[in-house]
Amino acid sequence: MNTKSTETPPVCSYEGSDYQRTFWDSGERAYEDAVEQIALKRLLTKPGKLLLELGAGAGRNTPRYTGFERVVLLDYSRTQLLQARERLGDDPRYLFIAADIYKLPFVDGLFDSATMIRTLHHMAQPGLALASVRRALSQDAQFLLEFANKRNLKSILRYLSGRQKWNPFSPEQVEFAELNFDFHPKTIRRLLKESRFSIEKQLNVSQFRVAWLKRHVPLKALVALDSAWQWTGAFAQYAPSIWTLAEALGASPIPAQGSFFACPACGSALPNVEQSQSCPQCGHYWSYADGIHEFRINPEA
Ligand SMILES: C[S@@+](CC[C@H](N)C(=O)[O-])C[C@H]1O[C@@H](n2cnc3c(N)ncnc32)[C@H](O)[C@@H]1O
Repeated sequence: MNTKSTETPPVCSYEGSDYQRTFWDSGERAYEDAVEQIALKRLLTKPGKLLLELGAGAGRNTPRYTGFERVVLLDYSRTQLLQARERLGDDPRYLFIAADIYKLPFVDGLFDSATMIRTLHHMAQPGLALASVRRALSQDAQFLLEFANKRNLKSILRYLSGRQKWNPFSPEQVEFAELNFDFHPKTIRRLLKESRFSIEKQLNVSQFRVAWLKRHVPLKALVALDSAWQWTGAFAQYAPSIWTLAEALGASPIPAQGSFFACPACGSALPNVEQSQSCPQCGHYWSYADGIHEFRINPEA
């Protein structure tokens, strides 16, 4: 992956990536996909009107959001969104937005639900990202957050046996590849609290993500084991992937009737939902083409 810089923190670019095909559709991660589906179903039990999928990628999880009237797929990569459109078809339930999580193009308080799966992983400034998500949510909204856990059993064993230099118990994030971060659960708890979220539930997911186990234990058995183990996340988080259900605390602005987009450059509400437009306040032009709303401030940077 190459990187891009904007005035906000750098973005890990998936432009032109065939991540969905090589990472998921190849079948090598059937275990991870199955246990993530279980976790998602367990956490997202409350139906809603408008769900924001942050870092939607090629829409792997989107068909799983059956309890929602509309789903907004947001991703920085336009080509990921094109792949998502191809996979999901022209369903009017879905809206496709190219934008940066740090600079969301919506009026405050718009969404009653949001998910962020395998995406915080790319945030150099997770606190900024979570604060941006919180602004887009209404009071009491549900937020499903998945994050990569640096304090997982495998990294602890590697550290204790001297095969890994970084300390899995220390609170700072670890960048194990450029713009790929693992976080300490305590740090994420603190950042969620600072962004006005309260944690309702936590699951340990992908605990058995070990090549040997995946080769020798039948998929069904491994998934059943993971499913039974996920609940231990309520007490201690030692799996590589932690799934958290949080609730937006405190008041949020109530959006004016019919308002939806806000200019990510200057913050003013935008008049149109269905077409290209210039911001009446700062004049920035935002295009709409191939079914995708373009809200990246500097996509060519
Ligand atoms: C590992 S993929 C996960 C895709 C999907 N959530 C899934 O689980 O299959 C991470 C996605 O986050 C997107 N992403 C990374 N940084 C972003 C940012 N700052 N704003 C919006 N999307 C971002 C990438 O383009 C990529 O599609």
